[in-house]
Amino acid sequence: MEFQLRQCDPAQEKTGTVIVAVSGSEFSAAARALDEASVGQLGRALKSAGFEGKPGQVLALYGLAGSAAEQVLVVGTGELKDLDSRGLQRAAVAAVKALGKGPKKAVSFLTELEARDLPLEDRISNIVRASLEGSYRFDEFKSKKNGDKGLNHLTLAIPDKSAATAGKRAVAWGQAVAAGINRARDLGNTPPNVCHPKYVAEQAKALGKLHEKMLDVKVLGEADMKKLGMGSFLAVSQGSDQEGQLVIMDYKGGKKSEAPVVLVGKGITFDTGGISLKPGAGMDEMKFDMCGAASVLGVMTALVESGLPINVVGVMACAENMPSGRATRPGDIVTTMSGQTVEILNTDAEGRLVLCDALTYVGRYKPAVVIDIATLTGACVVALGKVVSGLFSPSDELAQELLDAGQRSGDRAWRMPVWQDYQDMLDSPFADIANIGNAPNGGAITAACFLARFTKDYTWAHLDIAGTAWLSGAQKGATGRPVPLLMQYLKQRVES
Ligand code: BES
Ligand code: MN
Ligand code: ZN
Repeated sequence: MEFQLRQCDPAQEKTGTVIVAVSGSEFSAAARALDEASVGQLGRALKSAGFEGKPGQVLALYGLAGSAAEQVLVVGTGELKDLDSRGLQRAAVAAVKALGKGPKKAVSFLTELEARDLPLEDRISNIVRASLEGSYRFDEFKSKKNGDKGLNHLTLAIPDKSAATAGKRAVAWGQAVAAGINRARDLGNTPPNVCHPKYVAEQAKALGKLHEKMLDVKVLGEADMKKLGMGSFLAVSQGSDQEGQLVIMDYKGGKKSEAPVVLVGKGITFDTGGISLKPGAGMDEMKFDMCGAASVLGVMTALVESGLPINVVGVMACAENMPSGRATRPGDIVTTMSGQTVEILNTDAEGRLVLCDALTYVGRYKPAVVIDIATLTGACVVALGKVVSGLFSPSDELAQELLDAGQRSGDRAWRMPVWQDYQDMLDSPFADIANIGNAPNGGAITAACFLARFTKDYTWAHLDIAGTAWLSGAQKGATGRPVPLLMQYLKQRVES
């Protein structure tokens, strides 16, 4: 999709579709202009269609009097005073989806909505990003491809020429973030017989090849991990015929001396639960258990596209969790790279087992901060649903920065505690730590507490994306979250 910025007059636009917003009962300036040009026809049409300007509501009007365009698409946003980045994105996605097979060109006036705390640039980035997310298709494995990609040219209305330079930057940022999001979605959606650990590693290597100057990619196999003493990681992958891979992507956008931000993603390419086998219903969705890793690759993609001046090391801990004669048993005790021993009481709590060794490994980068991203616990979905990601960090400062980045990017997180009272639940009579808590509750927190024991040497945060990384049911598919949150966080670091 191509984007353009231009000063536009809603009634004079001849391009295919003109997109305008109605916020509750309040017409945006462009909607008002069209209502006047049509001598009230727009308002009457909305009234008879029962259009209330609610979030996500759309109404297409063809041949509206006074408009030179083929179609006028009215999008609801809910009350303007409540509109934030998320609401603006929802409106932009609804618009792109409603256009479907309609005209290929559109002019959007959604840019004029003064959403809460969002300057014009942020509004532009959000609309660009959402439009690209909304037109995403995954038909790689359909024999009949969806040839019609819908809208291919979107003009964003800007108030005057002076906004063009900053506007262009905002478009580029939105495009880079969307490229990262959609890359993560592709990887998440790819079936687990194709997307195994080596496949993920190949994807990273291919990205490194395309951007040799900016991105170094290194892959550790099981022999390397054995030498490093990663007994916990290997306990997960030993039941599988697919070799586990630790993928390290080093993005060098900043000064050589600058300490990197390290991102560590859980990359379980399929989680059967291992010997602690999962129930059958919905198990196919455990192909999404590598979405943390996919989001790290997505961030690296967005970084090379945007050229953001910062150093970031992205790590993907990739393994397949399978039952077999070689698989880990409940009760097995392993030694982690940190030297701490773990009693594996449940082989389905495997994410923390691959992550703890990866988190010990990244200490060598002397990181400014480390953030791990994982579809870690069903308990997190119980607590927060599929709306926000769980955020855990002993650092108030880092937690606040990530919460802010989530709010600003519309990819929100909510903080949960990492307290000693929960740590006690991980005591084991036989090893230094058990891999599950001793109570049937607080599962997202005890999982975070487990990771906390391996991250004491640096400032750390953990994002549990079990609820947010993918959607189920009719909309089944990876969301690309939390790429937007992470990119916003990295941008804020550069700007501050
Ligand atoms: N990948 C799952 C977590 C998960 C489950 C994410 C359902 C999204 C939906 C993880 O490896 C897991 O199985 N966790 C267990 C932990 C338990 C055994 C302590 C869980 O949440 O049930
Ligand atoms: Mn599991
Ligand atoms: Zn898992």
